[in-house]
Amino acid sequence: KGIILAAGAGSRLYPASLPISKILLPVYDKPMIYYPITTLLLAGIDDILIITNPSDINNFKKLLGDGSDLGIKFSYAVQEVPKGIAESFLIAEDFINNEPVALILGDNIFHGFGFSSMLKNVIQKNKGATIFGYLVNDPERFGVVEIDKEQNAISLIEKPQNPKSNYAVTGLYFYDEHVVEYAKTLKPSNRGELEITDLNKIYLEKKALKVEILGRGFAWLDTGTFSSLLDAANFVETIETRQSITISAPEEIAFINGWITAEQLLESAELYGKSPYGEHLKAVAEGKVRY
Ligand code: DAU
Repeated sequence: KGIILAAGAGSRLYPASLPISKILLPVYDKPMIYYPITTLLLAGIDDILIITNPSDINNFKKLLGDGSDLGIKFSYAVQEVPKGIAESFLIAEDFINNEPVALILGDNIFHGFGFSSMLKNVIQKNKGATIFGYLVNDPERFGVVEIDKEQNAISLIEKPQNPKSNYAVTGLYFYDEHVVEYAKTLKPSNRGELEITDLNKIYLEKKALKVEILGRGFAWLDTGTFSSLLDAANFVETIETRQSITISAPEEIAFINGWITAEQLLESAELYGKSPYGEHLKAVAEGKVRY
């Protein structure tokens, strides 16, 4: 099971995100939400809850439907007011149903070779919680994790003024079946939010927090500002043009995972008309894309 948190006001991208959720804005050639969806699909997750704000839920449904085109299940829930990332687990309590769950923030983009096997491995080994550390030059903008030589977490701080390390905590988290129980004990922070970092600290205190490092060459991009949104679009354009492929196409991963047939993939390709995205799906269905 996986959750995509796609609510929030997105006011840092106003007026671009005034009429429509930031998470539906394009990152180069596809809506932003395609990127977190593909991350979950690469992990083998086929039951996904999308949490949106009240005014955007129908736009998400129009784009993604019930998931049957991908051979998976999409369901939807609303976060009325952005009261913090960890509120996801309270909203999703029934969906989670005391089972392990992954959470990804709708504006987080991951890309790198071997990511799928890394994620599957994390799910298999996960006891407690697993987070991902990524070396950045501006850690004060993120949750920051300090790690020892064996990659155990020593401390976790949300947006520290004086970061103890340069490892940002990315917006992808894997939790065991206790996550709702722990989320219920959280109190709002000074900024009035249920903080994901406070939830992760509970696992840290229980010595049940694992940190995976996304190493050199791996891309983790966020799209919180106009500049980082443009960087992300340029990154996608560079890879896609250089390798003449489309990255982060949910239909392609669903096909590779064996969730849809070549015929179903071709039907999806038709929907995208003559766009490069549609052409790519057609090439995949016809066995013309090399891996
Ligand atoms: O991107 C990774 C970072 O995400 C982590 O390093 C931080 O520890 C974590 O707190 C978070 O920091 P941000 O400052 O980026 O969080 P932000 O408030 O911008 O929210 C991230 C996304 O989640 C954004 O697309 C909006 C959505 N969101 C956020 C909140 C607080 C919601 O949908 N609902 C919410 O209540």
